[in-house]
Amino acid sequence: MKLTTAGESHGKALVAIIEGVPAHLKINLDKINTELALRQKGYGRGARQKIEQDKAELLSGVRNGETLGSPIALCIWNKDYVNCLEYMSDGKCDKAKTLEKSVTKLRPGHADLAGVLKFEQTDARNVLERASARETAIRVAAGSVFKEYLSALGVEISGYVREIYSVKDQKEYTFDEIKLAKTTELGMLDHGKSELAKLQIDALKENGDTAGGVVEIRVRGLKSGFGSMMTYAEKLDARLAGALMGIQAVKGVEIGMGFDCARTSGKQVHDEILYGENGFSRKTNRAGGIEGGTSNGEEIVVRLAMKPIPTLMQGLQTVDYLTKEKAVADAQRSDVCAIFALEIIAEAVVSEVLANAVSERLGGDTMSQVIARYNQLA
Ligand SMILES: Cc1cc2nc3c(=O)[nH]c(=O)nc-3n(C[C@H](O)[C@H](O)[C@H](O)COP(=O)(O)O)c2cc1C
Repeated sequence: MKLTTAGESHGKALVAIIEGVPAHLKINLDKINTELALRQKGYGRGARQKIEQDKAELLSGVRNGETLGSPIALCIWNKDYVNCLEYMSDGKCDKAKTLEKSVTKLRPGHADLAGVLKFEQTDARNVLERASARETAIRVAAGSVFKEYLSALGVEISGYVREIYSVKDQKEYTFDEIKLAKTTELGMLDHGKSELAKLQIDALKENGDTAGGVVEIRVRGLKSGFGSMMTYAEKLDARLAGALMGIQAVKGVEIGMGFDCARTSGKQVHDEILYGENGFSRKTNRAGGIEGGTSNGEEIVVRLAMKPIPTLMQGLQTVDYLTKEKAVADAQRSDVCAIFALEIIAEAVVSEVLANAVSERLGGDTMSQVIARYNQLA
C-alpha cells in the first residue's frame, strides 16, 4: 500500500491518495470524522482548531461503503482558506494579512531557516505552509482506512499520554484501560496528573511558553511474523521508528523498554519464552512485541517524545532573513501543547506501517483473501 499526501496549511485543501487497499474493505466516513475530531481535541490547542471542524470527503476508490481495489482519494477542505479569501475581498479585517503575511523573522525550532536556504526562498511561508502539522489531519483520515484494514484481522491500536512537561504517569495500564484515554481532556489516564498538567500548560501559556510530552501507542492482536530480520529495510521496529519520526515535532521513539534497556542487565531485559495450550508466549513484554525486526505476537509498545511547540508568544531571538538584522521570531496563533493530537496522529502512522507489513506478507485482491490468509497463520 502507498500513501501520498498533498496540501499546505492555509491552502485550499489537504488530499491523500492510498494505493493498494484490497476490495471489499468497509469504509465508514463517520469513523474517519470521529478520528479527525479527536485530532483537534486536547487542552492547550490554539485558535485554529476553532476555525477548522475537519470533515473528510471520499473522492474515489469507495462505492456503497466498500473499497473497490482502486486508489482511494480523500480530501479535507481548509476552512481557513475561505476565511482568508473573504477577509481579503472585503478588505476590512487584517486577519487575512496575518495569515498571508510573509515570514522573514525565522522561527527557531521550525523548518524556516533550513527551508529558505534549501529552496532558495526569501519568504519562509513558502516552506512553513507545507512543514506545518496541519498536514497530519489528512494522515489521520488515511490512517482510519489502515485501521479498518487491521481491524478486519482483529488487530487493535490504542494509546495514551504518559508525560506532559514535568508531569509523568509511570503506571502500567492494560490495553482495555488505555482505550478510555480518548474520553479525557488531555489523553492522560490519571485524573490528578491530568489536572496538574493543565495547570502547567496554563502557567506556560501565561509566560509565552509551550510544552511537549510523551505518548505510548499499543497494538493488540498482531500475530508473529510481520516485518523481517532478513534485510534492515524490512525491520518492523526500524519502519515504525522512521515513520513516527516523520511526524512533526517528534524527537524520539522507543520500542518496549527502549533506552532503559541500555541501563540494566540482560536478565532484567529479555522476555523468557513459555509454551502452553495457546502456543508460545512470554513471561514479560519488555521487547515491546518486536524481536529481530519482526512481530513476536505480544502487544507492540511504542513511545514517542514530542518537543515543546516551537512558536513562542514571547518570541526567541533570531535573524531577519532579508536584512540579516537581529530580530524577535515571528509568532502567530499557535498551540501551547498538542500532545493529545500527537497520540491520535501516531495511531494513524502506526496503522499505516502495520497495514503495509501485513499487505506485503499476505497480498490479496480482496479482504476475504487477506482474512483467510491471516487466519491460517499460527
Ligand atoms: C499535532 C501537532 C500540532 C502542532 N502545532 C503547532 C503549533 O500550533 N505551532 C507550532 O509552532 N508548531 C506546532 N507543531 C510543531 C511543528 O509542526 C514542528 O515542530 C515543525 O514543523 C518543525 O518540525 P520538527 O519539529 O519535526 O523539526 C505541531 C506539531 C504537531 C504534531
